[in-house]
Amino acid sequence: MRRDSRDKSQYSLPCRVLPNSQALPTLLTVMSDRFVLPRTGSSEDPIRVAVMISGGGSGLAALLRYQATPRSHYTALVLSEKAKAGGLQHGINAGVPSFGIPLPMDVDSNKRRVAHERLVNAALEEHNIELVVLSGYMRILSPWFVSHWKGRLVNIHPSLLPDFPGAHAHRDVLKAGAEVTGCTVHLVDEGVDSGPILAQMKVEVLEGDDEETLQERVKHTEHVLYPMTLDRLCSGQISL
Ligand code: GRF
Repeated sequence: MRRDSRDKSQYSLPCRVLPNSQALPTLLTVMSDRFVLPRTGSSEDPIRVAVMISGGGSGLAALLRYQATPRSHYTALVLSEKAKAGGLQHGINAGVPSFGIPLPMDVDSNKRRVAHERLVNAALEEHNIELVVLSGYMRILSPWFVSHWKGRLVNIHPSLLPDFPGAHAHRDVLKAGAEVTGCTVHLVDEGVDSGPILAQMKVEVLEGDDEETLQERVKHTEHVLYPMTLDRLCSGQISL
């Protein structure tokens, strides 16, 4: 039985973060030696992160707030495929180079994805980026880009993967009548939302939830889970 979505005690629901001891055996069996994790950072010498967004960037804003205290990672670049993505303003407000790299429409459509990614990659290299954090970035990345950054490319997905991958997770969760959903931070591989899972948090689906209320509540947990997981990844607490 789902609880009522107006019940404010929803925010005190038990959330589960997979501790290293549970998450790592999965990693060990799934990862290949082609995943190269970032070096170990520290608050004195943090990992240089690029955050890639497509929309409003509430996850980016939460990460920037978290990084206002020195951490083992900091945001050195914000990119979007949309020149006017609303979330770019969060980066600009924080003094981080933040801009759009639109698709090169003059390139043949079958070559456009990789041509775009080469432009993105040039910006990442120019800013000496060590870890790419996808935060609501809605484009599927090519095998070329993934293999180039494999192990240094992370994503957050708004469901408990492997359940409900894809672009309409909340809709699919509601349609399936699931009583529990959540969010997942994972390394990106060549599949869609299929890479090794680093951490998950559960969120209860409540009576009366629609896509909007569910998304809002899941985002609340995303904003906690992503920075914490980046801490683990960037301070050497995840190993292959
Ligand atoms: C998040 O729920 C993320 O998991 C999904 O897109 C949403 C982005 O939200 N892939 P925002 O742009 O960070 O507000």
